Amino acid sequence: MSETWSPDSWRGLPIRQVPGYPDEAALTRVEETLHRFPPLVFAGEARRLKERLAAVAAGKAFLLQGGDCAESFAEFHPNNIRDMFKVLLQMAVVLTFGAGCPVVKVGRFAGQFAKPRSSDTETQDGRTLPSYRGDIINSLEFDAAAREPDPQRMVQAYSQSAATLNLLRAFSQGGYADLHRVHAWNQDFVADSPQGERYRALADRLTETLNFMEACGLTSETTPQIRETEFYTSHEALFLSYEEALTRIDSTTGDWYDCSAHLVWLGDRTRQVDGAHAEFLRGIKNPIGMKCGPTLEPDDLLRLVDRLNARNEPGRLTLITRMGADKVEARLPYLIRAVQREGREVVWCCDPMHGNTITSSNGYKTRVFGRILDELHGAFAIHAAEGSYAGGVHFELTGQNVTECIGGAQGVSETSLAERYLTHCDPRLNASQALELAFEIAEALKQRRQGNAVNGVSRLGAAL
Ligand code: PEP
Ligand code: CO
Repeated sequence: MSETWSPDSWRGLPIRQVPGYPDEAALTRVEETLHRFPPLVFAGEARRLKERLAAVAAGKAFLLQGGDCAESFAEFHPNNIRDMFKVLLQMAVVLTFGAGCPVVKVGRFAGQFAKPRSSDTETQDGRTLPSYRGDIINSLEFDAAAREPDPQRMVQAYSQSAATLNLLRAFSQGGYADLHRVHAWNQDFVADSPQGERYRALADRLTETLNFMEACGLTSETTPQIRETEFYTSHEALFLSYEEALTRIDSTTGDWYDCSAHLVWLGDRTRQVDGAHAEFLRGIKNPIGMKCGPTLEPDDLLRLVDRLNARNEPGRLTLITRMGADKVEARLPYLIRAVQREGREVVWCCDPMHGNTITSSNGYKTRVFGRILDELHGAFAIHAAEGSYAGGVHFELTGQNVTECIGGAQGVSETSLAERYLTHCDPRLNASQALELAFEIAEALKQRRQGNAVNGVSRLGAAL
């Protein structure tokens, strides 16, 4: 393995999850086009996120990462972006109350298009076609032409990401995220639920506090922290042709940054230490993530940590654990101990979604709210027992009123999955379920702040 790195040094290394393009020359032409397009984020913003994540690593902030499993061209609409942003703001407010510290907000959209698949092909009614790999590569429709990878889709994904990011920047800084609007983020279908009411009560408290602060001279005009919010973007760095094309030298530092998003992560299926994906990620200077599934052994984790964060820089590497509620107790403690023993600086983030995917008896890929909660409580309790800081959470969610995950106070049942099952890939929490989870996490964070881990541990006992 050569130690010199360049944006294309991943080429020629063993690689998984690559689409088979019928015309490689056409792919190269699109890569060259994208290479000339403007970067979507600035290196300075990625550095600021790394600083924020360093605060998480030090136990002084909490990370909230969430969004689509797979963004789609069909669902591209300003209302969907707005509603996703709303639910993340709501969750962040709830978590800030619970954690009593800053919440670092990272969306998983504006670039989350490429999907790893467990099989290269899919068979329906005796017909076998290439698997759907995300809208940046092919189309979900089960049709031979639709499933053929088309490089022009990369250009559409780029322009959708650019427009999404533009709206997010406007929302974050143009007044939409002003804390005085905290009530307005509660959507109609959430407002009538128990979470909606609970949120309203909390928003009332916040408004009262803002009134008090205003009386002291701290207003939206004088205090940008009230008026604006920092919002970052992220996605899985799976499709390296696209990521390489957006990787640029930062003129201030001379370092390489992947300017497709502020943070990009290594997926659980592509984390081979000598593989192409780890090679690409080790050389960019963005903050990066790595998914840690139940098959990851502590020794391999350490090898990857050293490869991806050779300088042991706090905020550089976020480990996103996704064990499954039934495996978290058996696997997570060993990973935490290995990292602690070697003195590695990481952010620990819990993804309670990807280890808890099941197929319902009526054939839907789904997740059960209670199991998601079990993994969260389990991970929090394990970190507390190991003297480690559970620094964040990672969700697949949407602001829409979908019926993709079972359970929660709204009572989505197996039979109601069919009503509004819209995802292109994995089942997402709807805004009501997401807010309900935020309240649960806020409670756990409050207990932790008050030095009371007993509740978490007893919940773990009950859960497993
Ligand atoms: C995902 O985050 O959508 C995903 C595919 O996750 P993982 O790599 O953890 O399976
Ligand atoms: Co997913």
